[in-house]
Amino acid sequence: MKLKAAVVGLGYWGPNLARNLAGSGDFALAALCDLDAARLERVGAHYPAAERFTDLDAMLARIKPDLVCIATPVASHHALAAKALQGGAHVFVEKPMTMTGAQSRELLALAERLGRKVFVDHTFLFTGAVAELNKQVTGGNIGELLYIDSVRINLGLFQPDVDVVWDLAPHDLSILHHVVGVAPHSVRAMGSCHSPSGQADVAYLHLDYPGGVSAHLHLSWLSPVKVRRMIFAGTKQSIIYDDLEAAEKVKIYDHGVDFDVKDLEERRRVLVSYRKGDMRAPNVPATEALAVELQNVAAVLRGQANARASGVDGAAVVRVLEAAQRSLAQGGALVPVESA
Ligand SMILES: NC(=O)c1ccc[n+]([C@@H]2O[C@H](COP(=O)([O-])OP(=O)(O)OC[C@H]3O[C@@H](n4cnc5c(N)ncnc54)[C@H](O)[C@@H]3O)[C@@H](O)[C@H]2O)c1
Repeated sequence: MKLKAAVVGLGYWGPNLARNLAGSGDFALAALCDLDAARLERVGAHYPAAERFTDLDAMLARIKPDLVCIATPVASHHALAAKALQGGAHVFVEKPMTMTGAQSRELLALAERLGRKVFVDHTFLFTGAVAELNKQVTGGNIGELLYIDSVRINLGLFQPDVDVVWDLAPHDLSILHHVVGVAPHSVRAMGSCHSPSGQADVAYLHLDYPGGVSAHLHLSWLSPVKVRRMIFAGTKQSIIYDDLEAAEKVKIYDHGVDFDVKDLEERRRVLVSYRKGDMRAPNVPATEALAVELQNVAAVLRGQANARASGVDGAAVVRVLEAAQRSLAQGGALVPVESA
């Protein structure tokens, strides 16, 4: 039997959830909810089988959905998700899951008490490209991971309630959380604001991980060109993941540098030799990430799989964002990331 799903928030992203739920073999799109009645009618017209609501409480009481997907502005995630959990539903919350680590903890504790599940939309984890990237890095093909460098810039949609770090970095941080496998222990963040909002619209994050791996993220809503590129540099090989490439999103370069230290006491006598080998681009499936993600959610709710992006993963990303926010406010100071 299909699981009953509802989408709350039908702005930019919510309609993608509605479309994927309606096209899924696992879910029936039973309800749509948005405060904006005109938007509700516009999106709802595509899904006549879904009942329309401007009020979440009314929707929960009437539909009793199995899953509520929340695609509203970040500041409202915690309150709406808590209400949906209390109404008996499991929740699928857009990234970033909440505005604070404390809110994430509360939500997870509430779900635990009520025997419900929290999922977070860390969309990129469900792309063929990130699956391949993860396989290459965690499988040891690139050797030891040295550093990650990411650029995620464009003329972005300015968000009313969050800055560019909270808007764009969840994508990088969720990929890093997945591929590196541990949380960074500290963050330094610098940023600048060029709008009357007072929110950073250009930012640079530096993350330090246990074991010496570091990551640098460049985030911007103010770039004339769109770039979505991550470098994963290893001792044997390096990977460039370019999400804007149509076909060859993941390229593995057999390029690198070998160091031959002749005399450890005299570090200046290091011989550097450059390796320039082949580049290969494995074929990666182009299935829409949200469809794969919702399949995993359904399998978890049916007790057939573990969640690949759970509320615990959402909370881990929020903790890094919170540390970055503190560092930004302190002009780039090193801020430890709170542990789980
Ligand atoms: N996973 C992704 O790749 C991705 C991409 C874009 C946005 N997002 C996330 O999706 C969320 C929404 O972003 P957006 O750009 O679609 O925002 P948006 O402002 O375009 O849309 C938000 C919608 O929520 C509605 N809304 C607000 N409060 C509500 C409430 N209390 N009850 C019902 N409806 C309410 C608004 O009327 C609006 O229609 C954010 O968390 C954002 O980070 C995720």
